[in-house]
Formats: sequence, C-alpha cells, structure tokens
Amino acid sequence: MDKIKWGVIGAGGIARRRTIPGILLAKNAELVSVMEIDMALANEIKEQFNCKKAFDNIDDLLKDDEIDAVYIASPVIYHKEQAMNAANAGKHILLEKPICLTVEEGKEVVDYCKQKNVKLATGFMMRFHAYHKKMKQLVKDGKIGQVVSARAQLTCWYPDMPGNWRQSYNTSGGGALMDMGVHCLDLIQYITGFKTKRVAGMASTLTFDYEVEDSGAFLVELENGAICHVESNFNIPDDAAKGRLEFYGTKGSLLAEGTISQIETGSLEVTFSDDTKDYDAKQDRTEDRTRHIEVEFGNMYAKEIDSFSLSIKNNTKIEVPAIDGIQIQSVVEAAYASSKNSEYVKL
Ligand SMILES: NC(=O)c1ccc[n+]([C@@H]2O[C@H](COP(=O)([O-])OP(=O)(O)OC[C@H]3O[C@@H](n4cnc5c(N)ncnc54)[C@H](O)[C@@H]3O)[C@@H](O)[C@H]2O)c1
Repeated sequence: MDKIKWGVIGAGGIARRRTIPGILLAKNAELVSVMEIDMALANEIKEQFNCKKAFDNIDDLLKDDEIDAVYIASPVIYHKEQAMNAANAGKHILLEKPICLTVEEGKEVVDYCKQKNVKLATGFMMRFHAYHKKMKQLVKDGKIGQVVSARAQLTCWYPDMPGNWRQSYNTSGGGALMDMGVHCLDLIQYITGFKTKRVAGMASTLTFDYEVEDSGAFLVELENGAICHVESNFNIPDDAAKGRLEFYGTKGSLLAEGTISQIETGSLEVTFSDDTKDYDAKQDRTEDRTRHIEVEFGNMYAKEIDSFSLSIKNNTKIEVPAIDGIQIQSVVEAAYASSKNSEYVKL
C-alpha cells in the first residue's frame, strides 16, 4: 500500500478549514473525494482542493473502492450511523470528537469497528502540537517532579445561531464542555499519563439563549492524586482567549499559552527547581528561573492524518484511538451529572 486514499464526510466545516489542508500536506495520504449534503458545495470543495470526486451522499462515497479511509467531520448526531456505514464498507475511520452523542453510542461504534476489522481513531489532533509533545517529555523525564495540579482552558465566542446543531442537546450531546472541554482533559491526561478517578463539574448557560451550556468547568482527580481544572466557554471573545495549559509539580511548572488552538503556535515557559530547601517564610520569590522553550512548529492536522495513515499502512498501533475519546467523554458525561446533582462522580 502506498499512500492512504482518503474520503471526507462533512467536508464543509473544520474539514475544509483545517483537516483537508492537513491531508494535502501529509506524506502518507492522498485526498480522493469529498462529500457534502449539497452538491454545489461538494463540487466547490472538490475544485478548491483539486481532488478527484465529489458526492452529496455517503453511500456513493463509501461504494468507491479507491478509498481506504474516511474522515468524518459531520455534526455529532450523524457520527454513529456514518461510522457504522463506513465500517460496513471496510473503510478505516478518523471520527471527529466528540465520538458520538453518548458514551453508549461510542462503545457500539468501537465494537462494530472491531467486528469489521477496521481501525477507528478520534480527532484529538492537539496531541500532535510540538509544545504538547515537549511538555509530555518534560513530565516523563521528571523535570517538574510529582505532578500535583494542572489547568487547561479552551474558549471561543459562539453566539446564538438559530438552528445551529452545536446549540441543541439532541444534535450535539452537550455544549462547551462536550465540544471543547474534551480537548483540554485529553491534553491533561495525555501529558501526565494519568486518567481521571473522579470529577466535580459545573455547567450553565449564562450569556446566550441556547439549550446547551455556554460556560462549563470541572475539577478532576487523576490516578496519581493530582487535582486538575478544565474550563470551557462559548462566551469569551476570541480576542480575549488565552488557551492556557499549565502543569505544576514538586520540582517546577510548565506554562503554555495559546497552544490549545487549531493552529500550531503559542509559547511555553518552564521553571525547574531542584532545590530541596526548607520552608522559606519570607516568600520573596525574587529570583526568576523561568525559561522559554523553543520548538519547531508544524501542522497538527497533517501530523494527525500522517500518524493514522501510517497505522493503517503498517497495521500498527493507533496514536489516538477512539477508546481514548470514549473515556474522555465518560468524564464529561460524569461532569454533567455532577453539575446536575451537585456531587462528585467516581469513574
Ligand atoms: N478537531 C478540531 O479541530 C475540530 C474543530 C471543529 C470541529 N470539530 C468537530 O468536527 C465536527 C464538525 O464540526 P464543524 O465545526 O466542522 O461543524 P460545521 O457545522 O461547521 O460543519 C459540518 C459540515 O457537515 C455538513 N453536514 C451536515 N449534515 C451532514 C450529514 N448528514 N452528512 C455529512 N455532512 C453533513 C454541513 O453541511 C457542514 O458543512 C464535530 O464533531 C466537531 O466537534 C473538530
């Protein structure tokens, strides 16, 4: 098998903005076809990216023997049915986050893909950001000692848009936490290597008129005991967004800004403190040991596509398997239950 040949289902949103350009950059991938619900739009995207085929329904795209894999970036309500149809057609699948409307649906898809012997990955492309890989390595190398806390935030401005699928529970499954909090928790768990033991969540709609939450946050306790904080908002202007990702440990801290984003950019400040000093009552903190870390930026979407394409080509382990998406979603579901019932939820 040479390059993996890709078809894109739901090509008009994030696919058109980010992932299709990523497919075009990926060494092990080739864009063959795009599908949109409107033929004129499908044709427009086909022309834009100079690919071979455009469809206005997934059956025709899936019938095409030339396609090895599909990227599904449709509204969440369609994920389960489309992923199962793709598995039935023997296509490998990169299914955008959140995997499905519910964890239960997601598990059905995972089981079905196993049965059909197709690979299923999910769209946590932020794991491929060079700073996030660097942070994972620094934590693994013990540079900040025992990780005791972390914080991740992803926000955007998402005003009322009547009929918008993300703003209704039955088409999205949830609001800011389901849509963006999943990336934040995934990064915390990915970088520390620990999963969540229990969660306390709060979700409410403060600013807009839609049903899903525009403001959400949760605290999680990781397997190592670290207490971490995720914040997701649909009601903070894009200009004011910081996209911060912070880790604190017994020997230092890692502070990234602007890395939780769709573009591989941002900055990383680290402070390492190997001293085993006694308690310092003065708490002057005059010495600044902060350093900036430089990395070479790439394109997270291209890396995501390349990684999954290679796993298909070589029949090797998937870097971002769908089961990780389901585990993250189970924490978010628990955060919603916690918010509703005002109690911690154990995972
Ligand atoms: N990983 C990321 O960076 C990222 C960013 C944004 C969105 N997403 C995810 O991608 C998915 C799509 O989000 P979006 O922001 O692109 O939404 P969107 O609404 O902007 O785009 C979705 C596209 O799907 C099309 N569509 C509608 N019904 C369809 C159907 N039945 N079959 C196929 N296509 C259909 C729409 O016409 C639209 O062009 C969601 O799961 C979302 O969470 C991921």
